[in-house]
Amino acid sequence: MNPSATPSTRKPITLHRLRDMHATGEKITMLTCYDATFAHALDAAGVDCLLVGDSLGMVLQGQPSTVPVTLDEMCYHTRCVARGNRTAWIIGDLPFGSYQESKEQAMRSATLLMQAGAHMIKLEGGGWTADTVRFMVGRGIPVCAHLGLTPQSVHALGGYRIQGRTEDSAALLKRQAQELADAGASMLVLELIPAAVAQEVTAALPIPVIGIGAGVQCSGQVLVLHDMLNIATGKLPRFVRNFMDGSSGVDDAVRRFVAAVKDQSFPDPTLHTY
Ligand code: KIV
Repeated sequence: MNPSATPSTRKPITLHRLRDMHATGEKITMLTCYDATFAHALDAAGVDCLLVGDSLGMVLQGQPSTVPVTLDEMCYHTRCVARGNRTAWIIGDLPFGSYQESKEQAMRSATLLMQAGAHMIKLEGGGWTADTVRFMVGRGIPVCAHLGLTPQSVHALGGYRIQGRTEDSAALLKRQAQELADAGASMLVLELIPAAVAQEVTAALPIPVIGIGAGVQCSGQVLVLHDMLNIATGKLPRFVRNFMDGSSGVDDAVRRFVAAVKDQSFPDPTLHTY
């Protein structure tokens, strides 16, 4: 990676810009990011959104799941990313235990993440979360919801399994997605669900739907940075492409990810889709 790569000349990505991209059908690119160096590189390579995901628990800390990650840790990494970033839209993940107790607890946790430099916060789950989303949106916090495989619930879900495969679970997911959009969420992440279900949700909602293992018809794509650079330990999930393969370095790999999402050559329906 070249840390002195030319900074991008683009204007800062705003919620309005993301809405315009959605309205015009331009695919939105998102990668996880946990530090200032990568924030600088991903921003310069033209990634639209940097997700300070609680996946950092597994990727950086070597934890078995995202469950042990704390709000202090999320704030620390969000501050690091904000320092390295210039124009990308930063999304901070509310970690497990920082929003489930009450709307007020969620608001307090979101405030800390926004003060650390997030432009938007993300929280997992449907049903009960709609009220929490409405509460925070009404108080000035842009919110990204997250349905499908919600890693903070890995123990309740019985592992990292594809969600929304049965008629009933797909119907529940679609209903919850609509409720979250109605509650004011500005974006939705759909993780590990059949492409056909993601396509229906994307077509039905007025907000961008960002997929991870959810097919090419979503409004954009997110991957865990260390997965797409093939520097994560363990086997890559099927929905990941190793963008380092054939690239001259990290900057090139990230630019190829951006290009492949924008021209819809990633994800490939035959390789990366359920
Ligand atoms: O924490 C994370 O990295 C995420 C993505 C997998 C969407 O939530």
